Amino acid sequence: PLDARVADLLARMSVEEKVGQMMQLDARDDIDDHVLHTHVGSILHASPERLAQAQELTARTRLRIPLIVGEDCIHGHSFWLGATIFPTQLGMAASWDPALVERVARATAVEVASTGIHWTFSPVLCIARDLRWGRTGETFGEDPFLIGELASAMVRGYQGRGLVDPTAILATAKHFAGYSETQGGRDASEADLSERKLRSWFLPPFERVAREGCRTFMLGYQSIDGVPITMNDWLLNDVLRGEWGYTGTLVTDWDNVGRMVWEQQVQPDYAHAAAAAVRAGNDMVMTTPGFFAGTLEAIDLGLLKESDLDAAVSRILTLKFELGLFENPRLPDRAIQEVVIASVEHSDLNLEVARRSVVLLQNNGVLPLPIDVPVARSVAIVGPLIDDAQTQLGDWAGSSGQAGWLPDGHPRHLITTVLDGMSELLPPAWQLRDALGAEILRLVPDPAGANFPDGQPRPPLVIPSDTDDRLIAEAVEAAHGADYVVAVVGDRIELVGEGRSTATLELIGGQIALLDALAATGTPLIVVLLASKPLVLPESAMNAAAVLWVASPGMQGGRAIAEILLGLVEPSGRLPISFARHVGQQPTYYNQIRGQHGDRYADLTQSPAFQFGDGLSYTHVEYSELRLHQAELTSTQTLTAEITLHNTGSRPALETVQAYVSDLVTSVSWADRELKSFTQVPLDPGEKATVTLSVPVAECSIVDARGRRLVEAGEFLLHVGPSSRAATLSSVPFRVID
Ligand code: IFM
Repeated sequence: PLDARVADLLARMSVEEKVGQMMQLDARDDIDDHVLHTHVGSILHASPERLAQAQELTARTRLRIPLIVGEDCIHGHSFWLGATIFPTQLGMAASWDPALVERVARATAVEVASTGIHWTFSPVLCIARDLRWGRTGETFGEDPFLIGELASAMVRGYQGRGLVDPTAILATAKHFAGYSETQGGRDASEADLSERKLRSWFLPPFERVAREGCRTFMLGYQSIDGVPITMNDWLLNDVLRGEWGYTGTLVTDWDNVGRMVWEQQVQPDYAHAAAAAVRAGNDMVMTTPGFFAGTLEAIDLGLLKESDLDAAVSRILTLKFELGLFENPRLPDRAIQEVVIASVEHSDLNLEVARRSVVLLQNNGVLPLPIDVPVARSVAIVGPLIDDAQTQLGDWAGSSGQAGWLPDGHPRHLITTVLDGMSELLPPAWQLRDALGAEILRLVPDPAGANFPDGQPRPPLVIPSDTDDRLIAEAVEAAHGADYVVAVVGDRIELVGEGRSTATLELIGGQIALLDALAATGTPLIVVLLASKPLVLPESAMNAAAVLWVASPGMQGGRAIAEILLGLVEPSGRLPISFARHVGQQPTYYNQIRGQHGDRYADLTQSPAFQFGDGLSYTHVEYSELRLHQAELTSTQTLTAEITLHNTGSRPALETVQAYVSDLVTSVSWADRELKSFTQVPLDPGEKATVTLSVPVAECSIVDARGRRLVEAGEFLLHVGPSSRAATLSSVPFRVID
């Protein structure tokens, strides 16, 4: 019956109505005429009033086709002030916990659905390799397997038990594909990718969620080998729809069709650009008003036939029927909002995921702070980010101007900063001294702003040498009089996100001088790096008593950090992405291709500062007795291994056990080891446990010189341990036979 309804409606549509259905417009613009006369199929960035009014307008059109409403609700309901804002994807990824991520997406869907939005542009499946890329924090990190696991969980959470469920929203796998493989980290630059590289690492997570039933995919902005993704017939038609059998909907990124004309300059006009985009299989064209006239002209010129639009329009109508929008456009519902938006349940979940997103990178024993010892101590908490609520929330949180209709900032009382968390949780006998120093991160407008493409206001630039001696002196004074000093440093929201890549990775403003000065006081220095992505740490931080990293941790982040500093909660996060020692080391990811001559620098070690999978706890877990059930297998079998874990310390642990595979001889050069499985085990002090890990041998495949993914028979190694670092792993050989 669904197909029949789609076919019936399609048969009654004029060519203009078909073109209109393929368009998604920005609701912040004056779009009433378009809704009424251009029959647009979708809007995004709509306030609740705008959205309801636009849906009403569709009732005055000939066929009364409801709008599908999209939004970037990518770590919580980013476009609803006061809604729950969870840690960013990179923060969530540090939990290495797909079930937790699925719960976050479910909670997000419930909040988002209550506000009239049907479609979220999430999750991001890009592989983050060059840390200068401004959108690193939007990713699940650097490993395709971890990304696939977490993204699938997120898709399941958003889409719930099916689109008829009023709390289900459409998920979007983005940005298809290879968008993150930038040149120099510059956002949306041409991607440096071959087909083999795409198939080896960049496509597998997308294939995984396509098979998981992710209903929509969004394109990236970039070109690959000269071909903009928007017209990449091979990637969209042959691979996605052909090889993978994907039947979902494809949406372009922002004005991708127009950009082929005015930015990438590969199409002479909108008629040719529209024709190329339609032929490549795009269904929904985001924010290109010129697509309407362009497509009609393409049909006049014989570049397209009207019937070329039918598949795309059918896919869009199918989504609308499946969501039941013709019967109920799912308008914002205040009664439901009152129950679900920022509910206590969601806030508790937010705290849980924030705790799990904290990664303890270094600790000489100073942490946890000894609050259970009956001696009053004092702790100084200093640095520009101790009380910066918006930076803590991260990008896409209604905080950096993306929304337009939103006033700036989520309600402050819903956000716990590190200062709030420490003030609340520190025992009364302890003294808290704070020195804010927010001005250390002073930003100044860039005089060259007028040159920023597209007339967009250029993000403010930082003057890195703008150290404020007075503020540092205050922080030093606070540290001198204290038993411990906690410095909260990191990046600023203005330097995070789309179009905001950075040429450097160092701490900006006077933060390096601040850390150096604090280290010189001799007071044990605890560095809390509150940074959307890994940054390069100065020597004073690398030698600090303790370092913990948390990527934009959301509304409850400050409390989670304080709980971990004070030992009320055990740190358990693991790095989903490696930290470089120097910006020149980019890219620094762990699963590099085997090179020659050691593939290293003459002036710096090649090893990262902290590597994928790293993360400490407040206890020690020993790994022993790695054994295989069977050491010779065919490519259709599953490798099963067991390992014994022993918590030899005095505190509980949540241990993330990681399994990597090395193929010892490959027909093409390949990564030295790749993550193939992981599991998490809670361990009480003194507890021993046996953990079983399984790896289907089919997963131990490579992409050969002809682009075929296959398992090559021969010798392999399975490595199991607490990190991707060779020194931490136990290894056992196995053989794959034909
Ligand atoms: O969803 C985003 C995308 O990730 C980047 N460009 C704009 C889109 C819509 O806001």
